[in-house]
Amino acid sequence: MSAIYGLSQQPFHTDCASWPRPPRMLSLHCIEGGFEEVSTDILVFDWGAVERATAVNLKEVVWPFQCQSKRAVYGTILQRLPEIGWRVRFDPTLLRVACNGLEKELCSLGRTDSIVLQSGHWLIIDNYRTLHRRSRVGESKSRRVRRCYWG
Ligand SMILES: [Fe+2]
Repeated sequence: MSAIYGLSQQPFHTDCASWPRPPRMLSLHCIEGGFEEVSTDILVFDWGAVERATAVNLKEVVWPFQCQSKRAVYGTILQRLPEIGWRVRFDPTLLRVACNGLEKELCSLGRTDSIVLQSGHWLIIDNYRTLHRRSRVGESKSRRVRRCYWG
């Protein structure tokens, strides 16, 4: 994601959305926070609103998620899984078709929490039940975050 957006704000996304089975959890360990405030935004879904949503493009349209020259993985953005309920899979940079407005629709189904990580902080993110993004990073080159996946 950073390779595409550089220091600009990222869109909300699922990490590794083009994998057949994306990692369930990820952690961000802030090694060095830098001098400017950079927030990590988490889109926390209202599952009742998701249940009631009638958006065909989120629940019924099967989208191709494709990373560069690898084979695409096909799936819906919102999918009900027996073991966890609704799972979200979304990354506008991997959708090989026009997807304008999808992020706004997803944002309408929940609220956004913002967290500013300081040096030493760990943030654990549920990669199936939330979406996340990083705000714009200033010119500070000292921000370093270690990412880890599991599950
Ligand atoms: Fe990410």
